[in-house]
Parts: sequence; structure tokens; C-alpha cells
Amino acid sequence: VAQTVVQKAVELAPESWLPGGKPDPLIHQKHGLIGKPVSRIDGPLKVQGKAPFAAEFPMDGLTYAAVAFSTLPKGRIASLDTSEAEAAPGVVLVMTYRNAPRMKAMPVFMSEAKAAGGDNLPVMQDDRIHWNGQPVALVLAETQEQADHAKTLIRLTYEAEPATTSFAEAKAQGTHPGLFMGSPMKQEIGDAEAALAAAPVKVDVTYTTPRHSHNPIEPHAATIVWQGDDLVVHDASQAVTHTAWSLGNIFGIEEAQVHVTSPYVGGGFGSKTLWQHQVLGAAAAKLAGRPVRIALSREGVYRMIGGRTLTEQRLAIGATKEGHFEAIIHTGTAPMTHHNAMPEPFILATKSAYAARNFKLDVEVTYLDMLANTFMRAPGESVGTFALESAVDEMAVALGMDPVELRAVNEPEKDPTDNKPFSSRNIVEAYRTGAERFGWSKRNPVPGSVRDGEWQVGMGVATSTYPYHRMPGGAAKLTLTRDGRMQVEIAAHEMGMGTATAQTQVTAERFGLELDQVSFAYGDSFLPGQVLAGGSQQTASIGASVVAAQHALVAELLKLAGNDSPLAGLRADEVGGMEGGLAKLDEPGRHETYASILSRAQRDEVSVVASAPPPLETMHWSMHSWGAMFCEVRVNSVTGEVRVSRFLGSFDCGRILNAKTAASQFRGGIIMGLGMALMEETQFDERSGRVMNPSLAEYHVPVHLDVPEIEVMWTDIADPHAPMGARGIGEIGITGVGAAVANAIYNATGKRIRDLPITLDKLM
Ligand code: MOS
Repeated sequence: VAQTVVQKAVELAPESWLPGGKPDPLIHQKHGLIGKPVSRIDGPLKVQGKAPFAAEFPMDGLTYAAVAFSTLPKGRIASLDTSEAEAAPGVVLVMTYRNAPRMKAMPVFMSEAKAAGGDNLPVMQDDRIHWNGQPVALVLAETQEQADHAKTLIRLTYEAEPATTSFAEAKAQGTHPGLFMGSPMKQEIGDAEAALAAAPVKVDVTYTTPRHSHNPIEPHAATIVWQGDDLVVHDASQAVTHTAWSLGNIFGIEEAQVHVTSPYVGGGFGSKTLWQHQVLGAAAAKLAGRPVRIALSREGVYRMIGGRTLTEQRLAIGATKEGHFEAIIHTGTAPMTHHNAMPEPFILATKSAYAARNFKLDVEVTYLDMLANTFMRAPGESVGTFALESAVDEMAVALGMDPVELRAVNEPEKDPTDNKPFSSRNIVEAYRTGAERFGWSKRNPVPGSVRDGEWQVGMGVATSTYPYHRMPGGAAKLTLTRDGRMQVEIAAHEMGMGTATAQTQVTAERFGLELDQVSFAYGDSFLPGQVLAGGSQQTASIGASVVAAQHALVAELLKLAGNDSPLAGLRADEVGGMEGGLAKLDEPGRHETYASILSRAQRDEVSVVASAPPPLETMHWSMHSWGAMFCEVRVNSVTGEVRVSRFLGSFDCGRILNAKTAASQFRGGIIMGLGMALMEETQFDERSGRVMNPSLAEYHVPVHLDVPEIEVMWTDIADPHAPMGARGIGEIGITGVGAAVANAIYNATGKRIRDLPITLDKLM
């Protein structure tokens, strides 16, 4: 018994993952709740239709919004006639720039700590048109159908102005250094061009990737009501506090006057932030004096919600005959707009991937008149690893080396571009176990040599990677009640990743409680903390906050326990949560239950709020999640059709907190990666700047028949420098997939496709 108790003990030294901290023993503990494949807590509510999504909040007097979009990329509204629309059945009002309330522009993402806007353009404040698809009018009606109909009756004419909508034209106008989080992405170490020129073996090629539009299963929506001067927004959000602060800014009210809730989200992937629809909905609600439901159509998402921009990337590697990389060059250009802050940072993964002495990295941008582009799952890494990992495969071919072996040869001892030690990197182990499970040794290295009837069969491999982040601003409130129940409150988000479930497990384990004694409240801007669900950092962020709050709570409980407790005289760092109470770490017999402490102190509950320390760990260590992707494809030699027949992802992401939700995150990322590899492409008419395939009928994403059984596995090696030992798992799944598929297609056919998506015409 004593042994179990010691294993369950929690070291309460704060910041155990920071320099000088003692690793949290909890992260190595293998027999408790952490890591268990617990099913999603929110699952039953969702399958029963009992989970209210943003467009499902009932309200008295609700009105329904429909948005009309501009049909040219640049210019001004020359004439506007809304009379017919206003006279249509059920119409409450038509809002245009003429009658919209005066509002400030959205604070654009990354411009300030809580800025959440996709762009910083005026929202329906003047007659200017900035992109093809910009909202130009909003109809409010008693039903959605009435609003949708009346929208078609708005008469608009435009005065066009010259617009830049072609990438080639934009490049001809000049490129500019891409700034990511305010810093340039240009980096040179040594003389990469000279080292490349001198290298005996080289690859120097260009890869291109297309625009991608966001397609979460739940289109963007909000139900909005003004209560006096206070604004309530039921949103679908991965940034509730950011959205509340930003809306306060836009409408000139305090952050505390804006209440944003987002209990359930049908997928986000970087798109469920603040875009013009929430602003327009709130403006229309103000104008009408009635609540508004604004639920974008699928087309509306394509017109109003930014996606991933296209990229053109040069990837050059110079190597010795033994395969040691001498130079890595990764440069290129991506278009963005003047009104957003998101260059596609495709070089990020290259910075930490391989040992080399010479690097040249650069992301240049050009400006187009188009919808602001934005984050999409692993922005940068997803398309950047397509180029990098395809080029490594091309190098393996040039050297006549096995691509897994080539990667092992170039495994760095420390981060090659910032010189920090890795917090934990077991990528070779991920490759070894993955290769064994996948049967990599059965691959025939000669391209085009394996046939099954008219199908050519091949295998490919690629590294996947995504950085560890933890953003400042994490805080948590813990409330312990006399019946031994714990409530955790954090302004965090559940977009379907399993956050609430995994965090319930971790909290229960940490406090020595059962799963059903812990409840996790999230998705509400009035809760403590500002925890963006982005950058695969929410789990670490919440974990750090819970650890900080636990420390505060234990100190409080020890005070309440007093001199009659077996815990009398102990310091907070000497006790841990176990078996429904606290116990001395090295003397588990000194234990008292939470219920007993609170009842002796005659308290019904005790609550604390505490903030996580700043993310100093990332200043000391190079921290990234890692993985190895293995793909088998079948390419039809008659039709060029590609079928992914097997896929395996072998991950090294630190401690896995919930085996079931993690596997789903990995698989979901891989499926999105298969879409990127083989079918996803926003068709952007370069003459008009218009998105021509704004529907899931014409923008193809993988369906069940496109997806083979995907195996996932992981090293489960705890990262001593991440709270809970866990690095992010949300975005890494999409990275490396494009290259693994392209490399498998090369192995199957001998055709090297450097332009995504790899549609059948490129293989004919
Ligand atoms: Mo992600 S693109 O950080 O939601």
C-alpha cells in the first residue's frame, strides 16, 4: 500500500519543469489515470444533440442574419438600393455602411496580447471594397429563409479600381521580409550558398503549395444579444477572452462588459477566432435592439474566414558523399494582405530539423487584394515540411541511401540554429519503432518496381514536427467542496480535441481524486486566465495553471487543517494529493481527507485563483514535438488515381495524457494531411480574386473511402521540461504527411511531384 501511495504522490515544488526545478514525479507515474484511454466526457451530450453549439442558443425575439458579399476585389460601392430587400417578408432591417453603428476596426491577431481579429479593416464603415467576398450588407429577418431571400434583392453597383490578384504580378511588384510575431524570419548561419556549391551531392528544387480554405464541420456562427450596454456573444471560439477584449475595443466598452461563451465548438483549426461576422452580428443586434443569430453558410466561410495562403519554396541541401548535410537553404515567397499579420512561416520546422553548419532561411511576402489569410493547423510546418521532407527524400535518392538512415545520420545533438539543448528528442526511436511496425524493411528502394496488376505500389517516409509553446496569461480557479469534489475553472476551449477529458484526468490524478469528483469548467470569458486554444499549447498552459493553483490550494488547506491534523506543521512542498486528501510525500501515513479538513474547519468550500509562471522553459530548451510518418500508396498506372493504402504515425510528444483522445488528434491531423497531399485546393481566380469553389462539393476534403486505417503509436517519454511532461499533439499530425505521401508516390512511380495537391493529372 505504501508503495502505491508514494507513486501517487505529487511533488508540489512549483515550476518543476523550469530550470533548477525537480521533475514532477506524476509525469512518470504509469498506473493512474494519466494516459488512460478515457472516453470524451462531452461525447454523450454531443451524440444526443444536447450540447448547445453557437447557433443553437434559444432567445426571445431572435432575428436571423444573412450576409451579402462583394463581387469584385477592389473599388467602391457606387450605388446601393436596399428598398426591395427591406420590403420583403419578415425583414427587420438591412444594414450597410450607411446605417451601421460606428465601430473601430478589429485589433488584428498578434498586434496586442488579446487581439483576436483576422484583419484590421473597417467593418462596414465606408464604401470601400478590399477583397472579393467582403461583406457589403447584412439582412436581419424573422427567419433564416426570409433573410437569405431578402439578401438576393439588394441592388449594388461598384466602381472598380485596379487590383493585384495574381501572385506573379504581386511578386513583380516586389517582395518584403515576412514578420512572424513581429520578428523577421530571415536567418543565415555560415555561407549556405557557398557550402551548397561546394557540396559533392546536392538537391536544389522548388516546391509549391496552394491556398487552403477552412472547413470545420461547424461553420462559423454566433448568437448575440445586448443587455443594456453589455454584450453577450455565444460564439464558436478558440479564443474567448481574446474575443471579449477585442469586441470591447471595437464597440468602445470595457472587456468586462463583453461576455463570450463557447461551450462546444465543431472544430477550429485556427479559424475560430474573431472575424467580421461576430462584429457585424453585434452591430446589427444594436441597430435592431433584438438578439441576432449569425450563422455563416458554407460559402460564407469561404468568403469571410481566411485560410492558408499559397507558398513557393526553394529547398536546397548540400551533402557529403556519406550523407552529412553541409548546407540547408529554405527560402521562398507567400502572398498575404496589407490588413493581416500572418505570413505563412514555412521555414520554422527547418530551423530545428537537421544538423548542418550552414543555413539560409527566409520567408518573403507579397501583397494581394484578397481575403486576409490566417492560421491553419500547423501554419508553416504543414507546408514547410512538405518541401523539407520531400527534399530529404530526393537527397536520399541522390545518395542511394535509405531515407530513414539518412535522417539518423543528420540527427543534431542540439538545436542547429539556436544552439539550445533539446528538452527531449527521441525521433530516432520514433523512426525505429515505426519502421518495425510498418514493415519498412520490406520496401523496394527501386522506384516503380512493385506492381499489383495495374497498380504501382510504393512506400514513403517523412519527419513530422511542431514546436512546443506555452503562452503567458494562464490562470486557474480551483474550488474544493466539503463533499470532496473539485471544480477547475479556466477560460479555455474544447473544440473536439478532448481537452476537458484529459484535464479532468490530470486534475483528478494530481489531487488524488476519482474522475467523477472533478469537473472542468471552460469556454467562458468570465472565467480566469486567457488561454488561447492555438499553437498546440492549451494543454501545457492549463497544466501549468493547475499546478500553480494546486500549490495555492494546498497552502490554504494546511492553514485550515491546523494543529489537530496529522498534517500539522507540514509545508506545502512536503505534501501531495492522494486518496481524497493530502499526505506527506515521504510518510504517506500522515494523511487527511479534504472532507475532514474542511469539516473540522467548518468550511463548506475553499477556493483559490493562481497564475502560471511565464514560459521560461522555452528560453532554456529547444522544445518540439516529433514524429515519423510512414505511408504506403497505390497509384493506378491507367488513371493516375492515388490510393493511400496504409499509414502509420509514430510520435514522440512527451507524456500522452489520454491514449484515446491523443490517437484521435493524431489521426485527425494525418487525415487533414492526406487532404493537403492529394486534394485540398482553394480555386482562386487570379483575374478577379474570387474563390471559385466555395463548397464541399468542389473543395475536396478526404472522406471515409479516402482514408485507410491509420495506425498511431508513441514513445510516451515524458518531457521533464513541460508541465505534466506533455508537449503538444494537436497540430503535429498534419506535418510531414504531404511529404510522406509524395515520397511514397515517387517510390511507386518514379515521378517526383513538387506541387500540391498531387492530383491524378500530375501523374499521367
Ligand atoms: Mo492552430 S492553426 O494554432 O488553431
